[in-house]
Amino acid sequence: MKCVDDFRLMFGKREFVPIMIGGMGVDISTAGLALEAARLGGIGHISDAMVNTVADRRFNTKFVKDKLKQFKFNVTNIDKSIVKFDLGQLAEATKLHIGKTMEAKRGAGLIFVNCMEKLTMNAPKETLRVRMQAALDAGVDGITLAAGLHLGSFSLIEDHPRFRDAMLGVIVSSLRALQLFIRKTVRCNRLPDYVVVEGPLAGGHLGFGMDWKNYDLATIVAEIKAWLHAEKLNIPLIPAGGIFTGSDAVAYLENGASAVQVATRFTVARECGLPEDVQQEYFKASEDEIEVNQISPTGYPMRMLSKSPAIGDGIRPNCEAYGYLLDANGSCSYITSYNRELDANPGVKRLSVKDKTCLCTQMRNFNLWTCGHYTYRLKDTTHKLPDGSYQVLSAEHIFNDYQFSKDNKIALPG
Ligand SMILES: Cc1cc2nc3c(=O)[nH]c(=O)nc-3n(C[C@H](O)[C@H](O)[C@H](O)COP(=O)(O)O)c2cc1C
Repeated sequence: MKCVDDFRLMFGKREFVPIMIGGMGVDISTAGLALEAARLGGIGHISDAMVNTVADRRFNTKFVKDKLKQFKFNVTNIDKSIVKFDLGQLAEATKLHIGKTMEAKRGAGLIFVNCMEKLTMNAPKETLRVRMQAALDAGVDGITLAAGLHLGSFSLIEDHPRFRDAMLGVIVSSLRALQLFIRKTVRCNRLPDYVVVEGPLAGGHLGFGMDWKNYDLATIVAEIKAWLHAEKLNIPLIPAGGIFTGSDAVAYLENGASAVQVATRFTVARECGLPEDVQQEYFKASEDEIEVNQISPTGYPMRMLSKSPAIGDGIRPNCEAYGYLLDANGSCSYITSYNRELDANPGVKRLSVKDKTCLCTQMRNFNLWTCGHYTYRLKDTTHKLPDGSYQVLSAEHIFNDYQFSKDNKIALPG
């Protein structure tokens, strides 16, 4: 029986261990985690979700404070259309986060940034352009376009000197989404360098409706592979979502996948950004405590632990400080839900908002515990300690287990 190490991901003439750690916002896939993947010869992702906040935490900058100071007068106003990002500061924060990560890179692997279109930031096109251009300026090895169709994203960076040499990839959950993307980007005379095919068992937002159970990753990968073959397009395919063991990965690699993208196993790595008490919740989770719901204001279903403190919490929208989900008109569906509850419950100190969540604040505070479907198996990947808690793992241990394990086995830490 083969193991992942019997395969290599080829980007042109360059070879990598075919393991990509997926982007996990907000700073769950930290620089430290991505750097480990690169050091071990694979691909790591950081994320540019809420990059001003992430930069403040990492480098003691004051991007969030500055924005809040500028718009403080608007905090109680339900109209958030005035709350805009300073594009210069956004570029600076992105360059800091990515540039410092690239400086620290060791080993033969690569560092990519996960860039979500759904972070519309009250000026979708302008902010996305700045985020992508600043990422290229900062020397990132590649950009993975996520959470959206990204039909215009390539054209936003077409004039950048690194447009043709940086790796550019896209995450899709259907053949149709890929066809639309390729039809649009063909105008820039540039194909994606890789396509991540994300199935319905992934963590974070899902590219499916609430009927996600009707889909399966292997079928979607096979459809996309057949279409690429018929079109004579040779683009590496990277399945993601529910690939829990090295042997799960081998099954895809033997069927022609170029690599796999994985994330859930790394949520319990020491280098991961989740606080340790939250990691213990991931370890403890049982299958019936993992739900897909519609509380994300992005409109995509999202998978999370049903115990997440964010669920039902009715905090005041914090768009003056954050505001990453404000659409082109300065609206966010959480604001609508919050105001409805505020009107219905005058004088109530702590509101409960059930249908939507303030995703920015909740993700920033690690109160929304998004996770992959197989999170309930994490307890089987480590030791239970005498005090009842579970032993947190090193990213290297998890990476090596994916790379070298056979026969559906999972190696426990030493
Ligand atoms: C905690 C967590 C956060 C995630 N956040 C993002 C994200 O911000 N952007 C994104 O494109 N995918 C996100 N994902 C999806 C992963 O990058 C990855 O494609 C997927 O989870 C792989 O499946 P697995 O978790 O079953 O290994 C997230 C996944 C997890 C577990």
